[in-house]
Amino acid sequence: MIDNAGPVAMDRPPNLSPGRYGAMTRSAIRLIRRTSPKEAALTFGLEALIALSIPLQLLLVRWVIGRVVGVGGQTTLGEIVVPIIAIFAVFALTRILLAVAMGLRLVLPKLVSYAATEMLAAKAAALPLPVIEAPDTRTRLAQAQRDIEWRPLRMCADLILLVSSGVTIAGLLVLLVVVQPVLAVFVVVAYALMLRRTAGAMHAIYTYFVTSMDRDRKLSYLSTLMADIDAAKEVRCFGLADVLLGRLRLLQADSVTDLRSVGRQWARRYLIGGLWTAVMGACGLVYTLWQYSLGSMTLGAAVAAVGALLFLIIQGHQFASSAGRFYENAVFVENFWWFMDLPAAPTGTKAAPSGDGAHVTLDGVSFTYPGSDRPVLVDVSMEVRPGEIVALVGENGAGKTTLAKLLCGLYEPDTGAVRWNGRDLSDIDAARLRENVSVVFQDFVRYQLPARDNIVFGDVTALSDEPRMVAAAREAGAHDFVSVLPDGYDTVLGPEFAGAHEPSVGQWQRVALARAMFRQAPLMILDEPSAALDGRAEHDLFAGLARAAPDQAVMVISHRMSSVQMADRIYVLKDGRIVEEGRHAELMDRDGAYAELFALHAASGLGDGP
Ligand SMILES: Nc1ncnc2c1ncn2[C@@H]1O[C@H](COP(=O)(O)OP(=O)(O)O)[C@@H](O)[C@H]1O
Ligand SMILES: [Mg+2]
Repeated sequence: MIDNAGPVAMDRPPNLSPGRYGAMTRSAIRLIRRTSPKEAALTFGLEALIALSIPLQLLLVRWVIGRVVGVGGQTTLGEIVVPIIAIFAVFALTRILLAVAMGLRLVLPKLVSYAATEMLAAKAAALPLPVIEAPDTRTRLAQAQRDIEWRPLRMCADLILLVSSGVTIAGLLVLLVVVQPVLAVFVVVAYALMLRRTAGAMHAIYTYFVTSMDRDRKLSYLSTLMADIDAAKEVRCFGLADVLLGRLRLLQADSVTDLRSVGRQWARRYLIGGLWTAVMGACGLVYTLWQYSLGSMTLGAAVAAVGALLFLIIQGHQFASSAGRFYENAVFVENFWWFMDLPAAPTGTKAAPSGDGAHVTLDGVSFTYPGSDRPVLVDVSMEVRPGEIVALVGENGAGKTTLAKLLCGLYEPDTGAVRWNGRDLSDIDAARLRENVSVVFQDFVRYQLPARDNIVFGDVTALSDEPRMVAAAREAGAHDFVSVLPDGYDTVLGPEFAGAHEPSVGQWQRVALARAMFRQAPLMILDEPSAALDGRAEHDLFAGLARAAPDQAVMVISHRMSSVQMADRIYVLKDGRIVEEGRHAELMDRDGAYAELFALHAASGLGDGP
């Protein structure tokens, strides 16, 4: 395995030692073997057989010439018929094997590419939130995702070429050693000189890819942004296209400058490497002629030796360029396995949440995001009981959404504890916990899929429960608009696909609410659920919440005061601390932070909704 110590880093000089090359090849083979071991073995076996056909043909040529010349020109057809048939047979067999191999060459790389895509997606979804959010993970993931379309394909093709030219070279070298060992020395020296240059060129291209990773990600972000449908309105209204294009061009120019310099290095090194092989090849030819003229080589041996030399020069170049191209995949292979070797969130090792309802308590919880030194939550204590609607209010950035993420077990508190019916969440299986939580995040997902999927994704164990889906949609106030769409619940939502229907922001919010309501979990968390709802809809929502699931514990997060007045208890969060708690009337009487927020919203008219 390639070592997994930190970023593919610009801070670490690329190491192109044979050991590392070997490690990379093992990684590549690991990927290929996972895909389809049988097809992989067959492909590489066939390639090796095909590769051996060249030395075999040369041996046959030597044999035939030996027979023809050996009997002083008096050869009868009968004496050479067997070798001639053998030559035809080897040629024909090679063609048959090649035909089979062509089909496999097409399929295997695609299989590897698909398998890698699947592995990457599955891994990404299994990683804990703090890991997938870390910038280093994002850079590597973005790079791997971009490369995965074509790198595994290339890697397979290059590996196949490497194997086949490697086997041909080995076969030809054995032949040369048998025929004229001195020639093998010429070839080995030529290869050593050429590979040294190739390694230098590979070094340059590897460094280019590594240092480009961050820049490529920015480049891809800018170009995606300009084409992004969510950004389309702003890009036009603020006239951002030229500014973004300007930045894109700068980054591209930077990249091209680096690439040009790498290109020059490639050319120089390949020229020098190529010249060395030409010189050594020519020396080999002259030496062969000399030996033949001295009579120390038979004609058959000389022809076979010349053939082997010429093939070795061609194959040497092919091997070096396949090796170079293979190493270009190093950044991808490293990223891929670095990512695959990240520890996934453990599942199935801890207990499920116990008890019927959800009595959730936070006890002195503090939390700081990884990579930050400013605590977002400080010594927060609160509780939600079954059947209660608890509201959490506070200004932007107070830490409300963060608290919701802790309740879902997406992050763990640094100090203090979140408990579910008395048991610490750190002792509860995260996946089982989430089965018991239904949540609408502030930045909920708008699935560009049928309205039906947008709702039933709330509970993947009940994907075809139509009555429950309609009931949830009714509760969330989504049924009225979904049911009149051209294909009803089968209408695809969103702007992405032809024939789809784009709901309004408020309608999207109702669909997200329906998804959460479909889940029927003991704990429901609604993060700013009414931000895009009108006043009436908001009122209906809260009246409905209490009615729909009487035993459900509900936490409503809001900065709209009108939506929280009916809560059983209100917590006021300020700069990560709970500064007040109580019912609406109590808090108004206290005339503290809550009353101030309330007055502010009432004065600005925000209290009545947009
Ligand atoms: N993924 C994150 N990484 C680092 N900091 C974050 C992240 N998400 C939110 N924050 C920071 O945490 C603070 C609280 O954010 P949040 O919980 O979203 O507030 P609220 O929901 O009350 O508006 C903010 O200062 C925000 O910048
Ligand atoms: Mg928030």
